[in-house]
Amino acid sequence: MPVPGRFYITTPIYYVNAEPHVGHAYTTIMSDILARHHRQRGDDTFFLTGTDEHGDKIARAAAELGRSPQEHTDVISARFRDLWGTFGLSHDFFIRTTDAAHKAGVQAVLERIHAAGDIYKSTYGGWYCTSCEAFYTEDDLVDGKLCPQHGRPVEWVEEENWFFRLSAYRDRLLALYDANPTFVRPAHRLNEARRIAEAVEDISISRANVTWGVPVPWDPEHVVYVWVDALLNYYTALAYAIGDADVTERFWPPDLQVLGKDILKFHAVIWPALLMAAGIEVPHGLYIHGFVLKGGERLSKTTGNLIDPLPYVERFGIDALRWYLAREIRFGEDGPFSDEGFDGRYHSELANELGNLLNRTVSMIERYRGGDVPADPGDDGALAAEVTERVAAVTAAFDSADVTGAAEEAWKLVRRLNQLVEERAPWTLARDDARARELDQALSSLAEGLRVAVTLLWPYMPGSSERALASLGQPAESPSLVSAAWGGGVAGARVALTGPLFPRIETEAA
Ligand code: MSP
Repeated sequence: MPVPGRFYITTPIYYVNAEPHVGHAYTTIMSDILARHHRQRGDDTFFLTGTDEHGDKIARAAAELGRSPQEHTDVISARFRDLWGTFGLSHDFFIRTTDAAHKAGVQAVLERIHAAGDIYKSTYGGWYCTSCEAFYTEDDLVDGKLCPQHGRPVEWVEEENWFFRLSAYRDRLLALYDANPTFVRPAHRLNEARRIAEAVEDISISRANVTWGVPVPWDPEHVVYVWVDALLNYYTALAYAIGDADVTERFWPPDLQVLGKDILKFHAVIWPALLMAAGIEVPHGLYIHGFVLKGGERLSKTTGNLIDPLPYVERFGIDALRWYLAREIRFGEDGPFSDEGFDGRYHSELANELGNLLNRTVSMIERYRGGDVPADPGDDGALAAEVTERVAAVTAAFDSADVTGAAEEAWKLVRRLNQLVEERAPWTLARDDARARELDQALSSLAEGLRVAVTLLWPYMPGSSERALASLGQPAESPSLVSAAWGGGVAGARVALTGPLFPRIETEAA
């Protein structure tokens, strides 16, 4: 069971063989939304991301560019770090597997597994895909020669390696899935993990002919298999992420590990077994998301259909990208990325539904009440109950890591408030002095409802949410969920009209 009040969340660490693209941004942004929601709840939160820099694939990518592996990883890792910085992502630490402290941490854990008797030497031959950094059997291959993930030719690799006795953990893995059915979510992914675990065989955890990696401590002729090195980042980071303070005790084990479906086997099967072997507590849960697709295909370097997220952020703003990804692609499933879809959600939802609602509310308060939000006459009990229900629904969706579901719940409030404007028609009430109380109620309910709505939306659109709060005359910075209770707004707030929250953007074709 997760520790209440604490939230340690991780993204996979990104390979530095390619430039960051929308697929990477997707995993990181979804995790950022989850981290921000938990911070809003007051949870002691730690959000980790970073880059995966060892292995043959990286060494080859560097060689192709005439760089040393270290030069190459320095360049590409910085691209990821800078881009996440430009996007204002809220990770607490950015790990690099070339960090000396990480390498020492990997060696220490391996020594523990070795001492436990679960590592042995043997000869292994298999079909190796450098893109996956993984072995396949004959049966796994497409047409007997291509990698099932990348459709690229595999290579026969045979060498003497160190092996991890993964097969010995089969029953313990199955018992873990039975004891903790939310260890892997969504539920159908747990079944996939179970199927893989049922058939596990021992795995090679070292490579003899690769030099770009962490040396095996008792046999430095070998380097640690890149996946083992990479998985351990989630554990090693806590020892040195915050300067001298080792925060392993405070945050271990992770409450949620977010990852794409292509790397389920490594995280749901190999990872917990490695931890069990080292005597380290396993994570509380993994959340497996789908792929961002373009023209029906996964974005990837291999298919050559990568999308650079930066131009979208430059044109529409980071909050628009965050919202589009969270809303368009149901978290846990595949979903499309298209310019038309992006433009549509931006203009119909962000600009029209939310932006106009704010603009109308603030303008009416200025016009009819001189800019002062009227005190709540207290006649809108039903609406207050509805808002309270929405807050609970958003929180419940986040409890299931349902990023898309929580967005939908929060958006229902935006739609309800737009409906309220039409129902109450404040412009009609304003013409009749006898209806001043009704007008006060309509305006104060709109201001209060909007305040709660943008507070709930803060994890998705932090900058826009803070601008909206400021124009409603409310404290804006990192609004807590406690403040999302109806009636929690600052009394006597003074609104201030600012430019549109989401300005209309001319489409290129126009
Ligand atoms: N380095 C490994 C992970 C090691 S974690 C201990 C790796 N790196 S990756 O850069 O190839 O992918 C990292 C993450 O990005 C994965 O979760 C992957 O699913 C995600 N995505 C890469 N392309 C994607 C899409 N097109 N759509 C959604 N996510 C995708 O695997």
